[in-house]
Amino acid sequence: MQFTLTQSSLANYSGEAIVVPVASKGAQPEQTQALDKTLNGFIAQILDKKDFKAKAGDSLLVLQANGSRLILMGVGELPLSEKDFIKTTQAAAKTLKGSAATQAIIDINNLTLAKQDASWAHQQLAQSFQGSLYHFDECKSKKANAEDTSNTIQTLEVVASEKLQDAICFGQAIAQGMAFTKKLSDLPANVVTPSYLADEAEKLATLSDKLTTHILDEDKMEELGMGSFLSVSKGSIEPGKIVCMEYMGGKKGDKPHVLVGKGVTFDTGGISLKPGAGMDEMKYDMCGAASVLGTVLAMIKLELPVNFVGILAAAENMPSGHASKPGDIVTAMNGTTIEILNTDAEGRLVLCDALTYAIDTYEPASIVDIATLTGACMMALGGVNSGLFTQNEDLASELMSASESSQDAAWRLPLQDEYQELLDSNFADIANIGGRLAGATTAACFLSRFTKGQKWAHLDIAGTAWNSGGKNKGATGRPVPLLVNYLANKAK
Ligand code: BES
Ligand code: MN
Ligand code: ZN
Repeated sequence: MQFTLTQSSLANYSGEAIVVPVASKGAQPEQTQALDKTLNGFIAQILDKKDFKAKAGDSLLVLQANGSRLILMGVGELPLSEKDFIKTTQAAAKTLKGSAATQAIIDINNLTLAKQDASWAHQQLAQSFQGSLYHFDECKSKKANAEDTSNTIQTLEVVASEKLQDAICFGQAIAQGMAFTKKLSDLPANVVTPSYLADEAEKLATLSDKLTTHILDEDKMEELGMGSFLSVSKGSIEPGKIVCMEYMGGKKGDKPHVLVGKGVTFDTGGISLKPGAGMDEMKYDMCGAASVLGTVLAMIKLELPVNFVGILAAAENMPSGHASKPGDIVTAMNGTTIEILNTDAEGRLVLCDALTYAIDTYEPASIVDIATLTGACMMALGGVNSGLFTQNEDLASELMSASESSQDAAWRLPLQDEYQELLDSNFADIANIGGRLAGATTAACFLSRFTKGQKWAHLDIAGTAWNSGGKNKGATGRPVPLLVNYLANKAK
């Protein structure tokens, strides 16, 4: 979708659809009043009928007598909360997408937000409209209008001054990053293997001079002593990969910020096999890696001046004659010995070696891992918040403020030293599980053993990366908005 800025007005628009904000109470925004005047009170008449309440998230397509489309975008009462604003723009975008219009105009001036400025609003506007275009028909034999773009929106004119251009580009890039993340996540595990993720990373590198990708194969990992990662990947015939994408947009010599994504392309649980029902959703166990790829894509588009590295820890967790068995003891790259008491706690096993490698290789300015790590986190926080674990207060507040401004919610969970003893093992330095209690925290504790002295945080996205079950099933693209905001703040 192309966003173009215009100084013109809704009333003068001669294209296919006009999206106009309508308040449920109080005076209408100026542009709405002006348009209504040229329409001889048509909008006021509609409101009088009371069918359309103009609450935030209400959206109505009406045809005027001359055949042109009007989309009434209910905004509720001003000032708007962030959540209502997002609801509003998403609903209007959906209505527009459902119409046959290929071009439209929108004007969100004078919509006061309780806590945010026009720049934030235009960013979200772009994110909502661009985001509405996502659909997944990769695996359908009949594509929904693959070539036929006649009923998808191609140009959206936005009534706004030039200085909002950057905000619009920012929102659009986030939505494009999310779409990439969602597509990789929604694709099945017989397509998306560790090698597939590595190929996608190499393709990204062709899009920007600032990005270089290198890949560690299993031989290289053997050489580096990554016994923990390999204990997972060796169970599958799909070779494991650690993929490093270095984006050097900032000053030469500035230490990079590092993101490490869990890329378990399918998690059967291994020999500690998961129950069958709903196991298909374990194709989503690579959503952390996919969110890193989506973030890299967004950052390439934005060309922001920051150094960062995206790392994917990609492996398939399978039961086989080569698979690890409960009780096996392996040695991680940093020398820690690990007793694998449950082969289903594989995410931490692949992440720990990727973290060690990242720290040794890049001396990161900060390091954040993103992982669908525990069912316990999903139980605790549901689909609303990602779990944030860190002992670094600065990093906690940087990530929370990125979460806040992107409305990509996260909630801090505890990571005190007192939990560490739950990982004690009789036979090795640590066990890979901590028993029934505090499962999300003990997983974070495990990772903390490999990030000592680092400015490190862990995001558990088990509940937020996809919607479960039924018609709703599908990836969300989270936490791309949070991550892009975090890195963009570093570029300031
Ligand atoms: N990928 C799962 C976590 C998961 C489960 C995410 C369900 C989303 C939905 C992870 O590898 C796992 O299996 N974790 C185990 C850990 C346990 C064995 C300590 C879990 O949470 O049950
Ligand atoms: Mn598992
Ligand atoms: Zn897993």
